[in-house]
Amino acid sequence: TKIAVLISGRGSNMQALLDAAKDEDFPAEIVLVASNRPDAAGLAVAEAAGIATEVIDHRDYEGRAAFEEALDSTLKMYGPRIVCLAGFMRILTPWFTERWRDLLINIHPSLLPAFKGLHTHERALEAGVRIHGCTVHYVRPEMDDGPIIGQAAVPVLPGDTPDTLAARVLEAEHKLYPQCVALACSGKARVAGERVRLQVREF
Ligand code: GRF
Repeated sequence: TKIAVLISGRGSNMQALLDAAKDEDFPAEIVLVASNRPDAAGLAVAEAAGIATEVIDHRDYEGRAAFEEALDSTLKMYGPRIVCLAGFMRILTPWFTERWRDLLINIHPSLLPAFKGLHTHERALEAGVRIHGCTVHYVRPEMDDGPIIGQAAVPVLPGDTPDTLAARVLEAEHKLYPQCVALACSGKARVAGERVRLQVREF
């Protein structure tokens, strides 16, 4: 299955997908890494790995509609079946998310539906939760919402700061995202209504 990865920054989740895809048993091939920011560090990493990269700079477009049309046409040129958001920091409109319905996957650094939006680690610490984590889900028009493919939990430890907690969650993200992308690409995580039906015994 051909996949594209959309980034805006560091791209460590993209790197995790890239590493996973080196295994010939991994059911996805990364055909494109695209960024809305020309300075995204992940672009150089992808290039060094020999993956095609594209920049669709949102500042070059008048409004979200024009930006998303450009993004959509770029994706179409590479023909991915599934598109993975990996630290992609632009809100997508329903036009785009419906066009890619059930084909667009996101990773979010919290156990959804808790802590949608930004600054999840600060907010988890403020809320005093003892378990935190990350979620991979199919994208719906509402932000950080949609059928859940998988989640990974990490403990919140005494003395944690947003940074130490973020690092622990990020490590879990790097394992979870490739696993979930593999499930989606192999057809073992299919959307049925507003839930994902998993065809695996254990996960
Ligand atoms: C990750 O924590 C991801 O869950 C969030 O943004 C961060 C991106 O990190 N949406 P990276 O660019 O993949 O390193």
